[in-house]
Amino acid sequence: MRIAVVGSGYVGLVAGACFADLGHDVILVDNDQQKLAALRNGQVPIHEKFLPELLSRHRAQRLTFSDDLKEAARLSSVIFVAVGTPPTESGEADLSYVESVAREISGGIDGYKVVVEKSTVPVYTSDWVRKIILRNGTDPELFDVASNPEFLREGTAVTDFLFPDRIVIGCDSDRSADVLREVYAPLTNGSYYKRSDAIPQPDRASIPPPIIVTSTKSAELIKHASNAFLAMKISFINAVASVCESVGADVNQVVHGVGTDSRIGPRFLNPGIGYGGSCFPKDVMAFRAVARECGYDFRLLDEVMRINEDQRQRFLRKVHSALWTLRGKNLGVLGLAFKGGTDDIRESPALFLVQALLQEGSKVTAYDPAAMERTQEVMSSGITFANSAYEAAHGADALLILTEWEEFANLDLNRLRQELKYPIVIDGRNLYDPEVMAAQGFTYYSIGRAAAHPDGLPAAVLKNGKKA
Ligand code: UDX
Ligand code: UDX
Repeated sequence: MRIAVVGSGYVGLVAGACFADLGHDVILVDNDQQKLAALRNGQVPIHEKFLPELLSRHRAQRLTFSDDLKEAARLSSVIFVAVGTPPTESGEADLSYVESVAREISGGIDGYKVVVEKSTVPVYTSDWVRKIILRNGTDPELFDVASNPEFLREGTAVTDFLFPDRIVIGCDSDRSADVLREVYAPLTNGSYYKRSDAIPQPDRASIPPPIIVTSTKSAELIKHASNAFLAMKISFINAVASVCESVGADVNQVVHGVGTDSRIGPRFLNPGIGYGGSCFPKDVMAFRAVARECGYDFRLLDEVMRINEDQRQRFLRKVHSALWTLRGKNLGVLGLAFKGGTDDIRESPALFLVQALLQEGSKVTAYDPAAMERTQEVMSSGITFANSAYEAAHGADALLILTEWEEFANLDLNRLRQELKYPIVIDGRNLYDPEVMAAQGFTYYSIGRAAAHPDGLPAAVLKNGKKA
């Protein structure tokens, strides 16, 4: 099939490269000339596993790049819209990019085409996209608007796309549903997985994935409700972690006990410094705003957001309680990205904390395997960048772990202790076992668990089942 994907950002670029890998001819459209030039030259603008392989496999063959949206629409039978939908000041999604794309697409509709929302949008957007296209003089018989939300996590976006839990297509006509079924047929009929050059299957993938066909409005809601639910799960466990801290329980043990109930499940129950990224904060706010507009006061979502913000403040208080005053302290920081496996720093809780620490007069030396360049673009002064975790720890009064990169969970603890001025680790992601850290001579603070000290006292008290 001939497919156009509008917006070559985190979502569009991954979707376009994966559609090409499924055998479709894809035109990736963007209005950012620099980005297009870089993509044409073989550069990969984002850090995403398997994306470089897919781009080099299909670039200039099944995958081309263009700034001419009208022409791309004319050449394609399906047009996916994946431009950004940033939040406005009041928390609603700004749909002006989606609107201008819809307007331009209408000029390229000269035969039946399906216009598909891939961006996360409020529930009434498909109606508006349809109205805009009609207003620009397009024959109503020549197009349908559908919704096909993505559930990609940054860092694992390619495998999330090719090995999804489910594919949701929201269509209000059989004709558009058939077109989208055909787009995903290599996944749903399993033929992609039999190919010798298929991207390797991750753990937990159940193939072939089911396809769920709904109305357009239901699909739009599925996306907002899924992200809001996952954010709620994280805020819930962060709230439970705070209770654990008050009573001396261990949140990891609680998570294990709660998460093994198959009705709840263990995933997205990791306590930490709160969720960030380009989706959860924006989507929870947008869903709250949509609900309000539709007459439902979804106050549960206010609480999800409040707990999330509070989580960062609680972490700052923890740093204070470990180090007392912060002015002039040298702090090593591991992690700047909003989560492990990505270079994305949008709404990163790690960056928020670094800024707060700098404001309090600390000196921060940070290391992140992928996000230092992007951090440098937004924070030029006050922060020093290190070449490794050990360099960040060198001479520091304490080490703070702010992003859940896998490599931060496997540090050589002996070497780390030697690098630090004081062996204090404040872990916002619970990457280590407090008993192990204490045994290795660290004072170790984490989330929802009692602090551990080199003498091992709190751990021993806990072992006896008494309160710390
Ligand atoms: C996407 C979705 O659009 C968003 O709704 C979802 O919640 C998160 O993922 P993302 O891919 O992360 O956003 O956005 P971004 O990386 O900003 O990419 C958007 C791209 O669209 C950019 O490359 C931008 O240049 C391009 N764009 C934007 C256009 O081509 N035309 C426009 O009118 C606006
Ligand atoms: C999310 C959704 O998971 C994905 O389905 C959707 O398409 C886009 O938004 P993403 O933002 O890439 O994906 O990252 P995700 O892995 O969901 O993590 C979001 C934030 O929550 C990160 O800051 C992460 O550190 C945090 N998180 C996640 C936790 O604090 N605890 C957890 O258990 C899981």
